[in-house]
Formats: sequence, C-alpha cells, structure tokens
Amino acid sequence: MHLFALIFLSFLAGVKSTTSHKSYTCNDFIVPIPVDNVTTIVPPFPAEFDQYAATELLNLFTIRTPSVPDVNLTTLTKTFNISVEYCAPKTQGPESSTLFINTHGLGFNKSYWNFYLANATDDAQYSYIDRIAGAGYSTLSWSRLGIEPSTVADPLTEVQATVELALLAGLTTLARVGQLTGVAIPEKVIHVGHSWGSQLSLALAAVAPELSDGVVLTGYSNRAEYQGYFLASTGLRLASDNAPERFPADQYPPGYVTWVDKFANQYSFLEYPYFDLAVLDQAEATKYPFTLGELLTATIIPSAAPEFTGPVLYLAAEHDLIFCASNCTGLFEEDSPAIQAFNGSNNVEAIVLPYFGHGINLHKNATAAYDLILEWAAQNGF
Ligand SMILES: *[C@@H]1O[C@H](CO)[C@@H](O)[C@H](O)[C@H]1NC(C)=O
Ligand SMILES: *[C@@H]1O[C@H](CO)[C@@H](O)[C@H](O)[C@H]1NC(C)=O
Ligand SMILES: *[C@@H]1O[C@H](CO)[C@@H](O)[C@H](O)[C@H]1NC(C)=O
Ligand SMILES: *[C@@H]1O[C@H](CO)[C@@H](O)[C@H](O)[C@H]1NC(C)=O
Ligand SMILES: *[C@@H]1O[C@H](CO)[C@@H](O)[C@H](O)[C@H]1NC(C)=O
Ligand SMILES: *[C@@H]1O[C@H](CO)[C@@H](O)[C@H](O)[C@H]1NC(C)=O
Ligand SMILES: *[C@@H]1O[C@H](CO)[C@@H](O)[C@H](O)[C@H]1NC(C)=O
Ligand SMILES: *[C@@H]1O[C@H](CO)[C@@H](O)[C@H](O)[C@H]1NC(C)=O
Repeated sequence: MHLFALIFLSFLAGVKSTTSHKSYTCNDFIVPIPVDNVTTIVPPFPAEFDQYAATELLNLFTIRTPSVPDVNLTTLTKTFNISVEYCAPKTQGPESSTLFINTHGLGFNKSYWNFYLANATDDAQYSYIDRIAGAGYSTLSWSRLGIEPSTVADPLTEVQATVELALLAGLTTLARVGQLTGVAIPEKVIHVGHSWGSQLSLALAAVAPELSDGVVLTGYSNRAEYQGYFLASTGLRLASDNAPERFPADQYPPGYVTWVDKFANQYSFLEYPYFDLAVLDQAEATKYPFTLGELLTATIIPSAAPEFTGPVLYLAAEHDLIFCASNCTGLFEEDSPAIQAFNGSNNVEAIVLPYFGHGINLHKNATAAYDLILEWAAQNGF
C-alpha cells in the first residue's frame, strides 16, 4: 500500500454548529479531504441490480467454500466532503493536547460516540465524548464516507476500505499539521475505533504508524470467521427499499444496504437485557446503511501492524456477535490474531467487558467502558 500525498487545499471549513457543555465545547463542520491515487477494486457486478441479486450475493458471501473473488484493480483520485465534530475543553490542561480521533462502525454516523436518547438530551450516560472531553482531552469524530452529510459516494466504486483508510490518514495528517480550522495542533493522537472503525484504525497503524501514538480498538477481535452470522442476519436489504424515506433511491443506489429490522439490529449489536429498549428503537430509527464496496474490500487492507510500537487497548464486548459469535472469552490470548497484529508493541492489553454486546456504547454500563479507556490513557502517559 502506498502512502497518501496530501494536496493542501486552501479552504476555510465553515463551522456549522457549536454546542457548549459544562467543561468543553463542540464544533460540527465539513472538511474536504483529498484521496490521491488510492487502489480500489473494480466491482465484479453491474451497478444496477435488485434484491434477488443482492440475496444471491449473500449466498456467495456465506458459502461453505469461500474463495477470493477475481477482481481487477484501478485507482481513485478525488476530494470528498467529510463531516467532523471536534470537541475541546474550555480550559487548556495537560490532557487537552492529546487528540482522540474516533472512527465509527457500520450502521452508525459519528454520533455513535455522542449518543443521547431523544427524550433525555441532558443524560450523558451513553456519550463517550462527554466522558473523554469531560476528562480534559480533545476529540475528533468523523462520519465515514457514504454517511451524510459526508459525501454519499458511489457505494461500489468509491465507498471501499482503501478509500476510507486514505481518508482517515488524510484527516489525521490535516489535524497534525494544523490544517483543520479551529482544531489545535495535538502533541499526541490516539486512534479509537468501533468495529469497522477499529479495522480501519488497525490498518492505519499498519500503513502509517507515525501518525498514531496509541490505538484503542473496541468491538473488534481481528477475526473474520464469524461475520457470516451478521451478514446473514441483515438479509442484505437494499437501503432504498428498507427505509425509502431516509434513503431515497435517487441518492442511495442498490450498493447501499442495511439489515431488515430492529430485531436484526438487536441480534448483531445488543445484549438483552443490558440495554434500554428505547435505545434500540432510536438506533434502528436513525441507522445508516453500509456498502457492498466495503464488504468486498474488507480484507484488502492490512490486518496486522507489526511496525506500530505504541500502546494498544482492545475493549471487547463479552457477547459480541459479529467478531466473537457472541462469546469473546478466550479470543484474546497471546497467540490470537488480535494480539499478534501488534507484535512490534510490548504494550498490548485486552479487556473483555461483561454484559455487553457488539454496540458497546449503547449499553446500560457504557460509562464503565469509557472509564477503562481513560484509565488506560492515564497509565500510558496521555
Ligand atoms: C498510481 O499508483 C500506481 C500503483 O498503484 C502507480 O503505478 C502509478 O504510477 C501511480 N500514479 C500516479 C499518477 O502517481
Ligand atoms: C478484468 O479486466 C479484463 C480486461 O478489461 C476483463 O476482460 C475481465 O473481464 C475483467 N475481470 C473482472 C473480474 O472484472
Ligand atoms: C463538497 O461540497 C461542496 C460544497 O458544498 C460541493 O460543491 C462539492 O460538490 C462536494 N463534493 C462532493 C464530492 O460531494
Ligand atoms: C423516553 O421514551 C421511552 C419510550 O420511547 C421511554 O421508555 C423512556 O422511559 C423515556 N425516557 C425519559 C427520560 O422520559
Ligand atoms: C447522526 O444521525 C442522527 C440520526 O439520524 C442525527 O440526528 C444526527 O444529526 C447525526 N449526527 C451527526 C453528528 O451527523
Ligand atoms: C510479526 O508479524 C509479522 C506479520 O504481521 C511477521 O512477518 C513477523 O515475523 C512477526 N514478528 C515477530 C517478531 O514475530
Ligand atoms: C465462552 O467461552 C469460554 C471459553 O471457551 C467458556 O469457558 C464459556 O463457558 C463460554 N461462555 C458461554 C456463555 O458459553
Ligand atoms: C460495568 O462494567 C464494569 C467493567 O467491565 C464492571 O466491572 C461492572 O461490574 C459492570 N457493572 C454492571 C452493573 O454491569
């Protein structure tokens, strides 16, 4: 994988909205981020297809005898609009020069990190941002490519793993060199991921280890063998059929897919009864689609970062369906793919959180998970 020559754009990121909290302030804005000559795959099927073809593709994704699909490669050079939220403490302290860059997983937007129930907007129990920024750190969360108001790009040719990885590298570089208006240049950067966002953060530590000082991978085991359960449970429903009022067909072509209903959501993301039923309803009502481009390219980004030497924390949910087939206990031993992915670091820790499913931040005990991240950060001098 080659690196990312950043073209420096002279732009002024217009601040779209500012919210003030007890001890910190958040700004929401759009950043144009170029990707330069990134390798992508040519999708092995036509852009136009229907639910029958998507269902047949699901049969192929979950076949007993998987094979690497025969695809041609091409490259992509383009500038995408990326929606970010930057939160910083009102008073500078020793922690505020550490920036947590947060990458969400499939099915969410960047507010996975800043989740509030619609009828309890001052109850911050689910908000990772409130806990981390409240402790004095700075945070930068982004909505990945394909998640509005980030560019709703082509779901087959553009919303692919390599492109999202290049965007994460680009965003990190822009933050580090002070090219994000209003974002203070950080001394240290920690990459935090959830699920697919963890896979991208791991890959970033592999291709550009110098961009990261520490990595926290939540809802992730670096194993692909159980993902068929997730895929099968979604039914790979075309997003524009499943929720046409949210995902109109003229904006969301068939490559945008989602799961069928809130019980499929619960099956993959939540451990009953350790969540509020209103949280599941809201998560389903505000879900975002994922793309076939992502599914087809999940394995072409690196899954090991041997050159990364910084501290690493895995925060796994005991009952994670997607990455552990609902039982993470025993999957983070010394010889596991998770631990071995960082064999150049002598500081890799794994914690399995009891009474959690894959969507950690949506569980009743989410705050305990955030406190473990804060503890880890303090122990490692951040
Ligand atoms: C783009 O990358 C390919 C390899 O992936 C390389 O052969 C080509 O020279 C690059 N093109 C430019 C314009 O940098
Ligand atoms: C790859 O490209 C070649 C040449 O254009 C074409 O013949 C072949 O069908 C393509 N293969 C796939 C899997 O798209
Ligand atoms: C990014 O936003 C600008 C300003 O709204 C718009 O002109 C441009 O077309 C957008 N780019 C993409 C790739 O959507
Ligand atoms: C919010 O609404 C849900 C039902 O949608 C209800 O279960 C919950 O108790 C309400 N919470 C508050 C704080 O009113
Ligand atoms: C994320 O999605 C929710 C639900 O659709 C929406 O209310 C919110 O404005 C979005 N947040 C951001 C930060 O983009
Ligand atoms: C670390 O892992 C890489 C593969 O990611 C492997 O090539 C290398 O030999 C391993 N190093 C050690 C010291 O085991
Ligand atoms: C989870 O796996 C561990 C280790 O294999 C086992 O000891 C434990 O009983 C399993 N838990 C459940 C709920 O099956
Ligand atoms: C919350 O999670 C923490 C950390 O895993 C654990 O020690 C604690 O027992 C949990 N509390 C509840 C009520 O589940």
